Amino acid sequence: MKMVRDVSDFKAAPWRDIDRVEMEHAMSVPTMLSKREQKLYYWLTSHWTQDIGAVVDLGCFVGGSTARLADGHVDAGKRHWIHAYDRFKADDRTKAQELYRKGIPPFDGTDIYWLARDLLEPWEDRVTLHRGDILTKTWDGSPIELLVMDAAKSTETTDGIAERFFPYLIPGQSLVVQQDYFHWRLPWIPVQMHLMQDWFRPVAFCPDDTVIFQNIRQIDEAALTAGKVSRLDDGALLDHLTEVQPLARSWRKKQRIYRMKRAIRANPGVRTGYRMVDPDK
Ligand SMILES: C[S@@+](CC[C@H](N)C(=O)[O-])C[C@H]1O[C@@H](n2cnc3c(N)ncnc32)[C@H](O)[C@@H]1O
Repeated sequence: MKMVRDVSDFKAAPWRDIDRVEMEHAMSVPTMLSKREQKLYYWLTSHWTQDIGAVVDLGCFVGGSTARLADGHVDAGKRHWIHAYDRFKADDRTKAQELYRKGIPPFDGTDIYWLARDLLEPWEDRVTLHRGDILTKTWDGSPIELLVMDAAKSTETTDGIAERFFPYLIPGQSLVVQQDYFHWRLPWIPVQMHLMQDWFRPVAFCPDDTVIFQNIRQIDEAALTAGKVSRLDDGALLDHLTEVQPLARSWRKKQRIYRMKRAIRANPGVRTGYRMVDPDK
C-alpha cells in the first residue's frame, strides 16, 4: 500500500499566514471565494502540491480561483498543467454583482470566455480553459494532484464529476477541495464524501464553506458506486446527513447540516441547487 502523506499541518490552517502581497498578481481577477479560501488556493499550489500531477479547477467562472492556484504554482516553480472548466456564461445579475462591482467595465451578452482568457493571460503558459458543460467533457487519464470542485450544483453533475475525475487522483497524495461542502443548497456534497469515506479523509475546514479531503485509496468502480448521490431519495439524504453531523460538529458547523436538512424537507425531490427554496425565509 502506498504511503499516505502527513496532513497534520492542515489543522493549524497554515495558509492563513500567506500575505496577500504574495498573491498580488492574482488579486486583480474577480472571484467569489472568501479571503481565506483565496489564501488556501494559493498555499495549496505554492506549498502543498509536489508537482506530480495536474491541477484541475471545476467551475472557475472568470478565473478567480484559477488565478490564485496559478500564481502559487508559478511562485513555487511548478510545471504541471492547470485545467479550468466552466460554461463561461453569466446573466445580467451575476455580471452586475460579481464583475462590475469588482471593477470589470460593463459589456453586452452572456459570454465570459473571452474575459476569462484576458484575465488569465499572465498564466497562459500553464492554464487550459475547457468551455462547456463538464458533463460533456472527458479527462485525458493523466494523474490529478489537486482537484478543486465548485460545480457540483446538482446530483447529476456531482456523480458525473466523480466518474470523470476521481479515478485519476493519486492515492495518499491528492486533495479534493469541496468549495461548497457546507452550502445549504447542495446537501448531496457532504453526503457524497461521507459515502466515500473509505476513499477520502477530511483534513480541514476553511471558511466560508470549504472542506478539503485527501484521497487515501485508489478510486475504482466500487468507490463510484458507493458514492453515487443521484440514486438517493430524500429520506436517504436526510439519514446520511445525520451521519455527517459528528464531523460537522468537530468544526462547530452542525447548524449548517441542520439547515441542509430543513432545505431537503422544504424542497422534496429537488436535486439542483438553484431550484432549492430557502427554508429559513
Ligand atoms: C460559484 S461559481 C465559481 C466561482 C469561481 N471558482 C471563483 O473563483 O470565482 C460556479 C461556477 O460553476 C460553473 N458550473 C456549474 N455547473 C457547471 C457545469 N455542469 N459545467 C460547467 N460549469 C459549471 C458555473 O458556470 C459557475 O461559473
